Amino acid sequence: MIAPPHTEAREIERRKLLKAGGLGLLGVGAAMTPLFVTNSVNAKSASRLPERKMPKPFAAAFKIPPPLHPDFISVNPANGKPVHHFTVTELSTTQEIVPGFQTPIMGYNGIFPGPTINIDQGTEAVLTVRNQLPPKNPVYGTPTGTSTHLHGSASLPQYDGYANDVTEPGFKKDYHYPNFQPARTLWYHDHGVHHTSQNAYSGLAAMYQLHDPAERSLLPQGEYDIPLVVSDMQFLANGTAGYDDHGHSGLWGDVILVNGTPWPVMKVKKRIYRFRILASSLSRSFRWQLSTKEPLYIVGTDGGMTANVIPVQSFRHAGAERYEVLIDFSKYKTGQEIILQNLSNKNNIDYNHTNKIMKFVVTDEAFSTTDPSSLKIPGLMTKDPVMALDPNSAVKKRKMEVERKHGMWMIDDQSWHDVVSSNFEKVWADPELNDVEIWEIENRSGGWFHPLHIHLVDFKILSRNGSAPLAHEAGPKDVVYVGEGETVVLLMRFEKNRGRYMIHCHNLPHEDHDMMLQYSVGLKKGDPDPNDPMQAAPPVRDIPA
Ligand code: C2O
Ligand code: CU
Ligand code: CU
Repeated sequence: MIAPPHTEAREIERRKLLKAGGLGLLGVGAAMTPLFVTNSVNAKSASRLPERKMPKPFAAAFKIPPPLHPDFISVNPANGKPVHHFTVTELSTTQEIVPGFQTPIMGYNGIFPGPTINIDQGTEAVLTVRNQLPPKNPVYGTPTGTSTHLHGSASLPQYDGYANDVTEPGFKKDYHYPNFQPARTLWYHDHGVHHTSQNAYSGLAAMYQLHDPAERSLLPQGEYDIPLVVSDMQFLANGTAGYDDHGHSGLWGDVILVNGTPWPVMKVKKRIYRFRILASSLSRSFRWQLSTKEPLYIVGTDGGMTANVIPVQSFRHAGAERYEVLIDFSKYKTGQEIILQNLSNKNNIDYNHTNKIMKFVVTDEAFSTTDPSSLKIPGLMTKDPVMALDPNSAVKKRKMEVERKHGMWMIDDQSWHDVVSSNFEKVWADPELNDVEIWEIENRSGGWFHPLHIHLVDFKILSRNGSAPLAHEAGPKDVVYVGEGETVVLLMRFEKNRGRYMIHCHNLPHEDHDMMLQYSVGLKKGDPDPNDPMQAAPPVRDIPA
């Protein structure tokens, strides 16, 4: 079925919401007015749970996903580096997300979010992913072949979660991760072709934290280094997660989850905390703000630490982007409550409680002040090689347009369909190894934003609409928010690996239908590709699922 063009889809959506009686009188006027504040659609709820069963904001305790420990440690004979060997098993199970209901999920080791991997720069990792899922998604009926992507890692193509390098149920695959990059917040998530959205929504997403000495000495660690995996979900009357992507345009849940818990409450001590915020939502973008309007201190972006601490009162954040922020709780009184709010952005569908994320309650619990990061916002951070790149060293400038055409999400009039039909040969760009290039990405539409992700590289945002990038984006990135009517210019070096890598929109229904292309590094047309993403390291048979 071909989905209607986006403007129509949005209109249909609005009418559906109006008919459902989700909007009050004010809401009706607002939704009809094209220039309504954020241009997002407001409605009461998307879930079908009876009102009294709906989870309530700030009723559940904050929790963080458990760490994943290595099964064993070896040494790579080729370079003498230690190798940590991890295993996760993809399982279909249930989890209590809404009190009183068991929601079917598919999770790494059967939990959502999956277990967090912590590792040091210079230590390699092998992650064995065992697919023990049933042949079809128990809720959506979609195929459950998976491909695991470590988002933020310069992995070889055969270990990069190439969409068509699918591991079927009853099979497993070893993914090799180099971990030579600067410290950063990564995440591993499913990337299976055409069903990434259902797979990730069902729970196949988890944190991966890469550490290095600079990051260890400058930023809070351990119990003060907190992952926030933020997503949104909607629920059917029986407690299963409803999946409505509005004709592949986007899924908008009315329940905000932080680490899988609806609007949790976290107790904090009167010191500085570091939050690694990952928007793992399929489609929703966020605009964070503290209810006290105190600053969020940005110290890291997708690819690692920023050169300076960047204080902002609020900032926008799309799916798959990671921002590390410090929050200073030392200035608050015991018992004070601070809410992390979401001001939303254009073209999201907002519900009654999507304007809030979680609550912090300040306690007077003791902590050690010998840790320099406890009470002082750090000074200068490290120099990142990507941020030091000179635009004059670029040997090529390319332009791409992200668009909706012929009822399909496309990049430059092409989609993953063209890549598949070319037997995976067609590439959008083919830089030489170590080439520096400038890519300009344009979104002419006023109806959509697209978080564009380029695999393998970190890039520097040179400009946004001809001006400087937004304050919070001044760090190494691998996903860029290409907002309505916006043009961004990126600078990057294609280094370390040769081979084919994906480029796609990280709104997952867009990615699946079919807003994804690939590019190659250091390969000429017809060259043999020793890192062929589908041939070089195929999955192997495991025990039957
Ligand atoms: Cu986070 Cu190609 O993915
Ligand atoms: Cu990625
Ligand atoms: Cu998109």
